[in-house]
Amino acid sequence: MACVLAIETSCDETAVAIVNNRVCCSSVVASQILVHRQYGGVVPEVASRSHVETINEAIAQAFVEAQLNWGAIDAIAATCAPGLVGALLVGLTAAKTLAMVKQKPFLGVHHLEGHIYASYLSQPELEPPFLCLLVSGGHTSLIYVKDCGRYEILGETRDDAAGEAFDKVARLLKLGYPGGPAIDKLASSGNPKAYALPEGKVSVPGGGYHPYDSSFSGLKTAVLRLVQKLEQETSELPVRDVAASFQESVARSLTKRAIACALDYGLNTIAVGGGVAANSGLRQHLQNAGAQHNLRVLFPPLKYCTDNAAMIGCAASDHFNRGHTSPLTLSAQSRLSLTEVMQLY
Ligand code: KG4
Ligand code: ZN
Repeated sequence: MACVLAIETSCDETAVAIVNNRVCCSSVVASQILVHRQYGGVVPEVASRSHVETINEAIAQAFVEAQLNWGAIDAIAATCAPGLVGALLVGLTAAKTLAMVKQKPFLGVHHLEGHIYASYLSQPELEPPFLCLLVSGGHTSLIYVKDCGRYEILGETRDDAAGEAFDKVARLLKLGYPGGPAIDKLASSGNPKAYALPEGKVSVPGGGYHPYDSSFSGLKTAVLRLVQKLEQETSELPVRDVAASFQESVARSLTKRAIACALDYGLNTIAVGGGVAANSGLRQHLQNAGAQHNLRVLFPPLKYCTDNAAMIGCAASDHFNRGHTSPLTLSAQSRLSLTEVMQLY
């Protein structure tokens, strides 16, 4: 059994959690959305400064909520890659300093492995192998989860990530930041079949299309053209119908690829992770398609879909139980493939 204090500061949430294997004892998430909203997106320097201002309070709060003290903590973990380097450094430095002062083992955690572990938090009986559809602001991947630290990437986006597409289309529709939740809300009262939008297929050499890779930049351009056309034709843009049609296209494209991938690789469980896993259109499409093909589809609760430290603590617990620890010389990295996770230990 490993009780881990985990810190996540890879982007715009200052998050701290205490996790005992697959049980979350406390999870504190201090969102910076209000700070970044005025700029229309995350400003890296502002994010780093904001993490510095909040981190100590968030750590103290995690202990209060868990009703635990330092004696209960077996190891200290922090996200070290991928992400904004300045932002990662804040959480990583806090974790390494605490590990040194409190004389506890330290573990660096890959942010995307954390998103995969969000599914273990909500389904403690889940065991590999399974397929993870990871859809966040920076990634859109289909991952064959073989074991702790052992992943194979079967599908990826060739351009924008799904969450990035939501954010860009929301900006285009003047819905503000972050775009995903705003589009999701509007889409619930719009007509998803109002406008036919492209699926974003990825051609492969020799002809045909890649079965699992996605592309969202063409879809974003198609929405831009549609909005320009509608603005000329109508006095009031039918925002709800545009949002619903866009969401429908993303949800259908992701569902088709995830189902094909699970069936081709003989995996009977699809666990979804990342901020876009909160999307109601995707939830509905994938659940329905999963039921049709006799596949189990798992969506974590919303609090574990978007960035949080509980998922980081859960991943760290599993590594720690296997004897993995990281050196205190570990540095923050803006990029690191999920297939290279074991470099951290
Ligand atoms: O996983 P996450 O919190 O941070 C990253 O690691 O990127 O994901 C953030 C992304 C943002 O692009 C946000 O717009 C999107 O997730 N998102 C959503 C929803 N909630 C958050 N996208 C669609 N529908 C939602 N309900
Ligand atoms: Zn994330």
